[in-house]
Amino acid sequence: MSIFDELEGIHAEALQALETAASSAALDAWYTQYLGRKGAVTLQTRSIGKLSQEERPEFGKRINEIKQQLEAAYAAQSQALKAAELEAALMSDTIDITLPGRPVNPGHLHLTTQTLRQIYDIFGRMGFEVYEAPDVELETYNFDLLNIPDYHPARDMWDTFWIDQKQPAPDGRLLLRTHTSPGQMRVMRERYPEPIRVILPGKCYRYEQITARSEHQFYQVEGLAVGKHITMTDLIGTLTQFVNLFYGPGHKMRVRSSYFPFTEPSIEVDMDCILCGGAGCRVCKYTGWLEIAGAGMVHPVVLKNGGYDPDEWSGFAFGPGVERPAMMKYGISDIRLFYGNDLRFAQQF
Ligand code: PHE
Repeated sequence: MSIFDELEGIHAEALQALETAASSAALDAWYTQYLGRKGAVTLQTRSIGKLSQEERPEFGKRINEIKQQLEAAYAAQSQALKAAELEAALMSDTIDITLPGRPVNPGHLHLTTQTLRQIYDIFGRMGFEVYEAPDVELETYNFDLLNIPDYHPARDMWDTFWIDQKQPAPDGRLLLRTHTSPGQMRVMRERYPEPIRVILPGKCYRYEQITARSEHQFYQVEGLAVGKHITMTDLIGTLTQFVNLFYGPGHKMRVRSSYFPFTEPSIEVDMDCILCGGAGCRVCKYTGWLEIAGAGMVHPVVLKNGGYDPDEWSGFAFGPGVERPAMMKYGISDIRLFYGNDLRFAQQF
């Protein structure tokens, strides 16, 4: 067989083999076999040496023609195969565009934050500005300046978390505030001699047993008004307005005499039970009333410590919680739920 015949034989064989290459892998193998660096067609170039000078150009030209033809056939086959494979993939992996998307869970404000904002809104409408005081407080602000000296038995009303300090700060010992009342002193000392109308929201901490009714951390919103002619009537009017805006109209409120070292006189504020309307039930322990805040007229000693002359100035203060009013409003029976991080609770509000 002449070298020319051999070349034509390979050509015919390659064309035939290409038709049976039914997958990308088979096609790759085919390419290596015929057109690769050691492929049958490529190797044919080596036979040129066996030919006479006259035959060589013709042979070279023919090899090139065959190569080009095979490359073109390969490209066409490869494209057809890819299209077929894609088609098959699309037919088997169907995408169901009617499947509904997964719901997005955007989250929302915690009930405590929502309640705080309701309270800001209500007092904001009455002209109270929000003032923030620190959680880590000096003993003097939390106690002494509020007319609760070290030896005073009233300190027992607030079981305290003390801050461990290697060296006590020059201004005295540090603690986690047990109530928001120390903020009163901070505002007074900053604002004197202006009249004051602020609320002081914040977290308070007490070294206490945790139960369904009490947490060792909770929010209070202190209120403080200082001016020239402020009376108990202003205090009661302000709180009545708060109760009606927070719980809805038509509620009754009453005050009882009480004791706090930093107010004189001191009162405890009650409202008619939100559940039974005053008839008596388990929530109000059959009294018909629920306690909502401690309050009173700012004690002259406290005014003086804040820089205000008690002969000229007077003021009122109140200190409701935040979680308990929310519990009453939304019928929540356990204060621990506020700090439990259970989404089933959080999502209800
Ligand atoms: N600070 C008091 C408490 O935590 C509440 C209070 C505030 C009472 C303001 C009177 C005036 O119990």
